Amino acid sequence: MKKNISIVLALLLVLTIQLGFSENAYAESNLPDGTYEVPVEMMKADDITASSMASGALVSPGHLEVINGEWFLRVEFQTLYIGFISGNASNIQYYEGAVGTPLHNAEVLSYWDNGEVKEVRMPVEQNSEGVYVKMHVEAGWFITMDPNAYIKYAVPKGYEITANAGAHGSISPAGAVTIVEGASQSFTITPDAGYHVKDVKVDNVSVGAVTSHEITNVMADHTIVAEFEKDAPVEHTITAGADQTMVEGNKNILDIVCNGDFDEFQGIWFDGIELEEGSDKDYTAMSGSTIVTFTDSYLSNLAVGTHDVEFRYTKNRNVNTTLTVTAKEETGGSLPSDNTLTAGTVTKVDSSKTKEHQPATGDTNTPYVMILLLGISALLVSAMRRKKFTK
Ligand code: HEM
Repeated sequence: MKKNISIVLALLLVLTIQLGFSENAYAESNLPDGTYEVPVEMMKADDITASSMASGALVSPGHLEVINGEWFLRVEFQTLYIGFISGNASNIQYYEGAVGTPLHNAEVLSYWDNGEVKEVRMPVEQNSEGVYVKMHVEAGWFITMDPNAYIKYAVPKGYEITANAGAHGSISPAGAVTIVEGASQSFTITPDAGYHVKDVKVDNVSVGAVTSHEITNVMADHTIVAEFEKDAPVEHTITAGADQTMVEGNKNILDIVCNGDFDEFQGIWFDGIELEEGSDKDYTAMSGSTIVTFTDSYLSNLAVGTHDVEFRYTKNRNVNTTLTVTAKEETGGSLPSDNTLTAGTVTKVDSSKTKEHQPATGDTNTPYVMILLLGISALLVSAMRRKKFTK
């Protein structure tokens, strides 16, 4: 009876689906933590290259769980129909190593409605490709046995993605990342302040100047390289108070206004030296776009000459203007031919030239004339008196 069944089973075996197994790419390497769908197949315990006649009892794919580097196999046993006889496996045990080594019960995760074991979980050796098991099988009323088998699984292949960032930025994750076949990996590209992404290349092919990129469905090793470049200086301009002139010791310069964004304003550099901000210091600054007011105390101490005033902004968006301080007095000057004076410049004109332009007015001479007239009349009066007495 049993022999006859075996012949039928042997014929049925021809119909068994043969699963394709890939090479164990993780042998001698670490499969990253995670749960992986893996094709599973039941092989003969005494010849693991040959499918078990009961290979169809396993649901494929199963799952390989990697937790903290430890490997676990989750497999589902289903009712196997061989001809008109059905059977289930129960009491699933796994061998520590080959058949004959200590046996342990697999953890039962779920049962079929008929009470038979459905899903089990068992530890498997790291970097292994299968595990020896023993189970109890009852098929029909006449088959009861505790056969051994080998459950073979295909370890997912791993590929390496090497991520590199050029100068002035970073990529995350960086370095070599191991990816399971078919999985995806995202990268974040972050430029340093004042820089932006110039280009991102995957396998030397540009994917654009992006700040994130995902390599999907990984089926080979890859490289990803991010390049950065300096931000182009944005042309800020001084919109008011550019290139002013003031007389030494004066405090009469206008506010200097720059159209740069106040949020990006870093400060004022005067002749290359950073000034101190504050109403009791060198200058005050307020938004709109950037309005700078030098304090009186700062202005009154400025040396004669043309000074460089630099508005510094982030991203190298600096802008310069000048402030010229002229000497308090310039002797020997002359009036400009067009008779106009430059605002802020004080010119002391030659005294000789001043005289030429001073008109002589009667008003000026009045006191002298009066004194002269008084003197003359006094002389006349005394002369007349003297004449009277002599008569
Ligand atoms: C979930 C269900 C079943 C499991 C897991 C299972 C598993 C096994 C295993 C591992 C063997 C050892 C030989 C080999 O690997 O080729 C075996 C042998 C056998 N099984 Fe099953 N089996 C199941 C259901 C059945 C059913 C339904 C029948 C009904 C006909 C059956 C009949 C046999 C017979 C006759 C043998 C002995 C063959 C031989 O060694 O000559 N099995 N079974």
